[in-house]
Amino acid sequence: MSQALRDARRYEEERERSIAPGARPAFHLSARVGWMNDPNGFSWYGGQYHLFYQYHPYDSHWGPMHWGHAVSDDLLHWRYLPAAMAPDMPYDRDGCYSGGALTLPDGRHLLMYTGVAEELTETGALRRVQTQNLAFGDGMNYRKYEKNPVIAAADLPEGGSRYDFRDPRVWQEPDGSLRALVANDHPGEGGRLLLYGSEDMEHWKLLSVVAENRGRLGLMWECPDLFRLDGRDVLVASAQDMLPKGFEYHNGNGTFCLMGRMDPDTGRFIEESDQAVDYGIDFYAPQTVLTPDGRRVMIGWMQNWDTCNLHVKSTPWFGQMSLPRELSIRNGVLFQRPIRELEALRGPCVEYRGVALADGEIALPGIRGRTGDLEIELEPEDGAELFHRFAVRFAKSELYHTGVSFRPVESVLKVDRKFSGSRRAIIHQRRAKVNHDRGRLKLRLILDRFSVEAFVNDGEKVMTATLNTDLAADGITFFADGRLRMNARFWPLEAKKTPTAAD
Ligand code: FRU
Repeated sequence: MSQALRDARRYEEERERSIAPGARPAFHLSARVGWMNDPNGFSWYGGQYHLFYQYHPYDSHWGPMHWGHAVSDDLLHWRYLPAAMAPDMPYDRDGCYSGGALTLPDGRHLLMYTGVAEELTETGALRRVQTQNLAFGDGMNYRKYEKNPVIAAADLPEGGSRYDFRDPRVWQEPDGSLRALVANDHPGEGGRLLLYGSEDMEHWKLLSVVAENRGRLGLMWECPDLFRLDGRDVLVASAQDMLPKGFEYHNGNGTFCLMGRMDPDTGRFIEESDQAVDYGIDFYAPQTVLTPDGRRVMIGWMQNWDTCNLHVKSTPWFGQMSLPRELSIRNGVLFQRPIRELEALRGPCVEYRGVALADGEIALPGIRGRTGDLEIELEPEDGAELFHRFAVRFAKSELYHTGVSFRPVESVLKVDRKFSGSRRAIIHQRRAKVNHDRGRLKLRLILDRFSVEAFVNDGEKVMTATLNTDLAADGITFFADGRLRMNARFWPLEAKKTPTAAD
């Protein structure tokens, strides 16, 4: 083991002791210490889920990337394992960037990731050269392959940038050969996704350009994922610098999903539609796993790049993963629902039916707290004019609140955290168009101390936002401008055990 990895492991073990379990999310994975971004190597290995992540243990801001590591049986109770990789080789000395994982037939866990090494260009500028690399392990310790890098600049097609060439998604074909889908910038035209194949893990060959941006969805594409779901092929990737399109793609860096089919003859993805994956503020670079019982489950980095530097350096941890979401396709739309294992965390249910709301704000006994599962059904009041606005407010005190509000006349749902305690109110709202039948709408809010994930109409849309509000603000209220009726069910959520290090 390199000194760099040994140092990181020692550091994280010592530092995490200063973080009280209650100062973290209860069932979302957060950085063990320091900084976390993208999920990496999301896989089922040795009878457990493994989730790695982009990790800078020494600071709560981004820096030379390591791979953090955690395992779970249900994707909600996490156990930290020692950091899996540190930037310690000539080809990754400036960072071990994102990548994937799989189980090899001989039982080893294979990681494929991007190595970053800065190089002085002819003009004297420092640029980060990116290559694809392998590491082999047993679920705890990983050894980098002596033949790294396995995919490098010489393997790029004409015009491909060696400075933006990253985030391999790796899988094995039924014939035993490997595939890797890698994001690459084609300057002037934006991201494209390259498919490589290998018979022996050492030699990789470019097989096809699977998809190309051609200036449509942002600039560079990152973190691709490709999987089969409900009879379709689905390509998910995250684009940098997106131009908004109506209510879509407002986040600057945002995740999109292409539906269609992979053409086996050309290796190209034939697109039928595109959509945004999340309509909130904080969701990026997701990866999926196929569970042993056949569900496709997605986890994203619950953060965005534009508000990730508002915290002070001394913050002990920064960065959380989203809730694992079960994916399905209904009427050509990607649906996401909270993983069903979450229901095991529910405490006793508090239920209200037909609550009349009329021009004002109410609290309902039994509905409060910062960890909870809240289902709401809205209906217009018989004989009354269609209501103007409904809002549910949470993480609420006299000073603070965050809200999800619905304006049926405009069919707009909004998440708004400008009163969540941030001192930068300008960047904390997001709107989405939603389907409803004259004000009838279903919402399910999952609260976990520092986040809200609002699932609309059984997962047709999701709005995700983190909040940094003082935990003493734990009120929940319901507001109406106009008259409506509401059914509400609330379950406090409690993890059996908050994240800890492996014994
Ligand atoms: C996406 C990303 C990846 C890269 C990683 C670096 O959030 O930019 O493309 O591998 O973060 O930390």
